[in-house]
Amino acid sequence: MMRVGVLISGRGSNLQSLIDACQAGSLPIEIVTVISNVAGVQGLERAEAAGISNQVIDHRGFGGREAFEDAVNDALLEAGADFVCMAGFMRLLTDGFVGKWLDRLINIHPSLLPAFKGLDTHQRAIEAGVRFTGCTVHFVRPAMDDGPIIVQAAVPIAGHDTPETLAARVLAEEHRIYPLALRLIAEGRVRVDGARVIVDGAEAPSEVLINPPG
Ligand code: GAR
Repeated sequence: MMRVGVLISGRGSNLQSLIDACQAGSLPIEIVTVISNVAGVQGLERAEAAGISNQVIDHRGFGGREAFEDAVNDALLEAGADFVCMAGFMRLLTDGFVGKWLDRLINIHPSLLPAFKGLDTHQRAIEAGVRFTGCTVHFVRPAMDDGPIIVQAAVPIAGHDTPETLAARVLAEEHRIYPLALRLIAEGRVRVDGARVIVDGAEAPSEVLINPPG
């Protein structure tokens, strides 16, 4: 069974989707630790409620990025993690950390990457007039919001959408595709091939291609 460490910075609703999938028996992994760089956040309460070991590693308590990341790395190893999920973890990672966890580190981002990297994705998608946005689960590379894409879900944008209404619909898709992407990896069905991800030996199997109807 894959032993997963989850990195968070806040609300932790994506963490909750992974916890729920584990408890429902649809995600064959063990979450061995939850690490937050911010104290007092809801995600830590969610971990606690699920009986998962959790800790705060405040990035402000270190001399620099590397020292913070070394502490995170040590905590992951201490917990016996062999895979890492970023779930609303709002720190950029250095090449060093990403290299240590290469192809064992994934992230969820609230846009259809490579569009709208960074913050305020929903506001920017509305302002750009795109008809669809969505969310992406991808392997992490040193550049921000970059890396081989595992699963995406598309969400149409309505004329009356605000960043808040759009965020809510995208978030519902995030909660669907993060457990799905992690399950595909846990089941050994995912291979990284250069900049792309191959699932079940195919470039775009139907399961990960589009929103299923209904
Ligand atoms: C989610 O929408 C996630 O996609 C986003 O932060 C939110 C965290 O919510 N992540 C990023 O923007 C990373 N670039 P959560 O704490 O409830 O999971």
